[in-house]
Amino acid sequence: MIKQHTCEHGPYEPQETILRHEPQYKLVRCRINGKPVTKMTDMRASLADFLRNDFSLTSVKKGCEVGECGACAVKIDGKSFNACIYLAIWAEDKDIWTVEGLLDGDGNLSIIQQAFVDEAAVQCGFCTPGFIITASEIVDRKQRYSRDELRRLLAGHLCRCTGYENILRAVEVAIERNIAKSEAAK
Ligand code: FES
Ligand code: FES
Repeated sequence: MIKQHTCEHGPYEPQETILRHEPQYKLVRCRINGKPVTKMTDMRASLADFLRNDFSLTSVKKGCEVGECGACAVKIDGKSFNACIYLAIWAEDKDIWTVEGLLDGDGNLSIIQQAFVDEAAVQCGFCTPGFIITASEIVDRKQRYSRDELRRLLAGHLCRCTGYENILRAVEVAIERNIAKSEAAK
């Protein structure tokens, strides 16, 4: 026998837990660009929304929002992650860095940012912060890579303006400059 609908929601009993849609919040303590922060956040919020909406860190771009384009990349405990698929509440106790935090105390560009400028590795600029975050992780290793290795290391980033050659050259230049800087400091 076909069960008659008993209410507007269909043949199933309405479930209060589903219908209530109550936001749930949690306190998150972490460091953002070197500064300790404490903020109440919606437990469903992504780290990308947390950084953009609560801290105005708009270098964190929202492109695909499904972890495919790399525009939202930030460094978490030294490693590049897509912030659109990382919950803000997972940032508890973590060390988060965005492009805004790469400038030195006098506002000078970091080695990787300067290399992007010098090599004209920016067109519309939408993908640039994400590329720079991952590239800064690579440059910090002070290790040389072949062009193919660099392509693989940066494969999680899409540039719709297709400026890949200049971007790869900028990363190579930054690696060389960082190695030279650390050798000069010895
Ligand atoms: S916006 Fe996060 S990977 Fe595309
Ligand atoms: S510079 Fe435009 S998307 Fe990369």
